[in-house]
Amino acid sequence: MSDWFNQAWEQFKEQYLITDESFDLDQKVFAERISRGQTTFDTSRINPAFSRGGELYDIIEGKSQGHFYERVGSAAKDALAHRLVLAEAGYLEEQGLNPQDHIGATTFPTGMSAIANVAEALVMPIPVKNREGLRILQGNNVYFHTEPLFGEAIPQKMGIESALKVDTTNIDEVRAALEENKGRIIAIFYEPITNPLLEYTDTRKIHEVAKEYGVPVITDNTFLTPFLSQPLREGADIVIHSMTKYMNGEGDAMGGAVIGPVEFINHLNGLQKVNGAVFSDSELAQLFYDRISNLPENMKRHIDNAVVIYDFLSQHPNVKSATYTPEELPHTRDCIPGAVLNFTLKGDSDEERLANVIALEDYIINNPGVIENRVSLGEEQHLMIGERDYGPGFVRFAVGREPGAMKVIRYLNKALDHVYQKK
Ligand SMILES: Cc1ncc(COP(=O)(O)O)c(C=O)c1O
Repeated sequence: MSDWFNQAWEQFKEQYLITDESFDLDQKVFAERISRGQTTFDTSRINPAFSRGGELYDIIEGKSQGHFYERVGSAAKDALAHRLVLAEAGYLEEQGLNPQDHIGATTFPTGMSAIANVAEALVMPIPVKNREGLRILQGNNVYFHTEPLFGEAIPQKMGIESALKVDTTNIDEVRAALEENKGRIIAIFYEPITNPLLEYTDTRKIHEVAKEYGVPVITDNTFLTPFLSQPLREGADIVIHSMTKYMNGEGDAMGGAVIGPVEFINHLNGLQKVNGAVFSDSELAQLFYDRISNLPENMKRHIDNAVVIYDFLSQHPNVKSATYTPEELPHTRDCIPGAVLNFTLKGDSDEERLANVIALEDYIINNPGVIENRVSLGEEQHLMIGERDYGPGFVRFAVGREPGAMKVIRYLNKALDHVYQKK
């Protein structure tokens, strides 16, 4: 395994990063922390002029701080990384530590690029001749593009085996898989809350078993965000985000982020410098830097809406079932699972349920304009959509943060009346 995953890191984790308390981070404290040092950067001039001869080489050799070329780094990218560290590990300050001394962050043009680069960075230090048979242990239900990334693209490129899919919600299955594949698993990767099924993987349990087998734990925290859960507290080693979603919050730009041990982040920085997986433009780093400040307030509004919309859907006579709150969710803020929910429409047969979903989609397509504050790229019709893989009648709804959920509820009521022909 790589140099960063060593005893010193394990000790630091156990002593400082992992906390016993339940997650009840004060919203104001969190907001203040991630908004600190509000500045604008001169993104029109990425490369400041040198002030003395020889400065360029001092920067390249790391003897002097500074930037000279956007692919290699910029002030805005550094400032964004700083905020990301505070978002996921700012709580270290409460123990008198400077989070930046131990935890680093870096950013990517997309969430997928962040995931791909983490996987490559994990495998890279392993000599090619020793890679055969190695694999990532992957949660059963991950984002649909992560699946072929770990199943085909990374294995083919890096000479490892296809990911081993395991139900990470079941710790006995994880343990059995690690035992059976002893010495072959290079990391455990999962999404703590899956989209759209809302299955929950308990990072504390995963950490306990991963520790026994000496395997790093990587979570994709896109849907919970550090407002609801900070996986480093629970024993994760590396946290990934698609910033395209809630970290941005406006659905107008893509980005990815990785937060983890400083040594691993330095190694990752080295990789992205040469493979060019960086924002094409410093203004994007500035945009995410600014938008992260809005995360606590935005998430609160998403969640408030999701709670009442779920209540409405779960009682609607034409909704067979609605899911928002998994049975067990011990470590997130107030046991909240995010702002995605799902529901299944009633119907006498599979065909009828499917037809009802299509009628609902038709209604949304023909009557847009209600969901304005979306967090994903794409139109509002993409947010409430039938997902055939989970059975006919199944609908996923990524709840927006509209001013007042009642407007959305009235809209849903009309849409469902339309589907069930009570126009
Ligand atoms: C959980 C999760 N991870 C990763 C991604 C990929 O992120 P991006 O679209 O920014 O590449 C997504 C995208 O929807 C996602 O939902």
